[in-house]
Amino acid sequence: MDRIQITGGKPLNGTIPISGAKNAALPLLIASLLTADRLTLKNVPNLADVNLLVRILRNHGVDLAVDGKRTGTTMHLGETFHLTARDIVDTTAPYEMVSRMRASFWVLGPLIARMRQAKVSLPGGCAIGTRPVDLHLSGLKALGAEIDIEAGYVVAKAPKGLHGAHIDFPKVSVGATHNVLLAAALAKGETLIENAAREPEIGDVAECLVKMGVKIEGIGTSTLRIQGRDRLEGAVHTVLPDRIETGTFAMAVAATGGDVVLEGAKSAHLTNALAVLTQTGTSVEETAHGIRVHRNGGAIQPISVETEPFPGFPTDLQAQLMALLTRAGGTSVIRETIFENRFMHVQELARLGADIHLHGDTATVTGVKVLTGAPVMATDLRASVSLVIAGLMAEGTTTINRVYHLDRGFEQLEQKLSRCGADIERISSG
Ligand code: UD1
Repeated sequence: MDRIQITGGKPLNGTIPISGAKNAALPLLIASLLTADRLTLKNVPNLADVNLLVRILRNHGVDLAVDGKRTGTTMHLGETFHLTARDIVDTTAPYEMVSRMRASFWVLGPLIARMRQAKVSLPGGCAIGTRPVDLHLSGLKALGAEIDIEAGYVVAKAPKGLHGAHIDFPKVSVGATHNVLLAAALAKGETLIENAAREPEIGDVAECLVKMGVKIEGIGTSTLRIQGRDRLEGAVHTVLPDRIETGTFAMAVAATGGDVVLEGAKSAHLTNALAVLTQTGTSVEETAHGIRVHRNGGAIQPISVETEPFPGFPTDLQAQLMALLTRAGGTSVIRETIFENRFMHVQELARLGADIHLHGDTATVTGVKVLTGAPVMATDLRASVSLVIAGLMAEGTTTINRVYHLDRGFEQLEQKLSRCGADIERISSG
């Protein structure tokens, strides 16, 4: 298994190109199941999660052709995927695949909508909490699906097809909103989703569905009104920039000091996180090319933050923020309100000398003068990148094991950082 080795203490300076958003690319790839025509997606990131989902989609009968590598100065990022689901040959998404990536469960809605039946394994994914799927299932039932759970599988039927419904989610869920939105696109009549998640990735999927012929009102709000169609057309759509990758590199610059332009990043997708960074004493400004982040000297200021659904501070940046605050000049408080078990990075950060106390959903982080490099273990996607940030700040060498977690969601992480001056390398175990 590969490891990443970092020798900390170097500031970051330069430009980092931001990739297409993983969390938009995944549901957009799944949207290809809704039409027999070609869906072309540009700016798809090259990630392990994307490759795994492609395997699942191919198993359902989706044809994929890849081209259009965009040439950066030395990096190749952003591929173009042409997906065609002319015939769905298999409506089962097997355990061996779905258990490795939670978002693949979102094939359920589109499969029932188009094929009137589906058998999809209950999901796995990062071990950051129990992560039930009750909201997905109740939403799809409201659209007319009959659902049973059999031997770890969701077995769904809708012999007469799906119909529009009024769904008021009792809790905000990104995945349930995607699943129901995708299904409603091919349901007969109007679907009203209230308390929908408002994450920009949902807006991106909705914009793509509009190009495929669906009428959707309220994009970007918590109320989505969708007029389903019997048949959707093909479309060409560009995946929006990854706000979590953007926020991660912004935290890394805040942590090490330096001056970096996050090329192609959109600050409107990150208003809260950028405001939080500013409170820590980091300068953030929008430029013609992206977001410029700089911190030259000066202490990191302690802050209090809680994670919230968009537009609040994202849970997917909580671990990275915590890594930054381990070196703050005082005590910070972070409350995690989305996932109950998303503090697995705490014990690894402690191995570098961080002073963090956990009490229920709240972490109290008292800044220390020095972090010291150590071997650590990546536990989930965002936790692993928080260890990278801590390693960049630490004195000496940090070795991160189990980096396959990082490869699920960060494209060319070591290259992007080392081009800005970080001493970071991947050690392949052959
Ligand atoms: C998505 C993101 C993930 C992010 C999370 C929250 C993708 C691929 N993943 O995950 O990176 O951390 O949103 O922003 O986009 N819940 C239920 N019942 C359900 C569904 C969810 O109780 O049926 C709960 C979850 O346990 C959690 C909360 O709702 O406490 C939010 O989860 P949700 O927004 O659904 O997260 P995901 O879609 O899994």
